[in-house]
Amino acid sequence: MPKLYLAPMEGVLDFTLRELLTHQVGIDQCVTEFIRVSDRLLPRSVFLRLAPELNQGGCTRSGVPVFLQLLGSDPSLLAENAAKAAELGAPGIDLNFGCPAKTVNKSRGGAVLLKEPDLIHDIVCAVRKAVPMNTPVTAKMRLGFADKSLAIENAQSIETAGASSLTIHARTKLEGYKPPAHWEWIAKIRDAVDMHLIANGEVWTQQDYWRCKILSGCEDVMLGRGMLSNPFLAETLVTQQNQSIEVSWIRLLPLLERYSKQVITDLSERHVHGRIKQWLNMLRWHYPQAESLFTQIRTEKDPRVILQKIQSAQHETPAIS
Ligand SMILES: Cc1cc2nc3c(=O)[nH]c(=O)nc-3n(C[C@H](O)[C@H](O)[C@H](O)COP(=O)(O)O)c2cc1C
Repeated sequence: MPKLYLAPMEGVLDFTLRELLTHQVGIDQCVTEFIRVSDRLLPRSVFLRLAPELNQGGCTRSGVPVFLQLLGSDPSLLAENAAKAAELGAPGIDLNFGCPAKTVNKSRGGAVLLKEPDLIHDIVCAVRKAVPMNTPVTAKMRLGFADKSLAIENAQSIETAGASSLTIHARTKLEGYKPPAHWEWIAKIRDAVDMHLIANGEVWTQQDYWRCKILSGCEDVMLGRGMLSNPFLAETLVTQQNQSIEVSWIRLLPLLERYSKQVITDLSERHVHGRIKQWLNMLRWHYPQAESLFTQIRTEKDPRVILQKIQSAQHETPAIS
């Protein structure tokens, strides 16, 4: 059976959203936001803050495993932290070779490492050696930093170092998030490695999904922004049944309400409105209905008022019989 993975998204796809999105049909595996390893063995509290699933067997409440993602450039430090994450119960360790953020790249982390296939090899090797054999070590990379000339070499470094799976976001760091994603490049990498590959980038619809699979030659696909703009995307891909946008919106509103309530409970009051607006903003990409709700709360900062508007939207939306 082809698998669907939920992408790691720092500052966006946190525990609450992972819970909510894996409660829907379709997602088989998740990855946490990256945990930055720069100079020390991190305390347990840092792992638990970014991966509260460690308190529940490393899975979301729906039983979907959540791999813990590390980002850094020092092989032995990453190994030490990976061992700790495994000891805390992470079902797998994922290594980040794709983050394009300037601050991260400046301190030799994320996509900048794609210029150094040997270092990538050493990192994966050290982490593989440090965690128990039954803890999978996986990696996620872009096609390169400035160009794609080292794409195959980097994938081979990851494979020979012992990673069990590699997700490829089919763009370079310089290409950022600008469409298109170059899925055909994943097929080129496939020809050069034997490891399990997962295709990622620009899958928003059923049509994108099938084109991505055909062009990349991958069975398995990772969904990021597409899943945030349409939380039922994975369900649609698995069931191959399209629902109307009206029905989808009616199903979505209670999720948005649940998310808002959770954020109100978890975050300090001044951070709540930003978080809710962030998701609603992404929902606008798929739901025309999200536009008017977004307009209503755009300048609102009081979480209770925002929640009321979301609840009113539910009451105003006619039920579909
Ligand atoms: C806001 C944001 C945060 C991200 N954070 C991470 C991260 O922590 N680790 C990672 O490997 N990729 C991260 N990514 C990249 C995504 O996992 C994914 O590769 C990218 O969004 C392309 O997939 P998509 O087109 O399906 O969204 C992030 C992307 C975005 C937009």
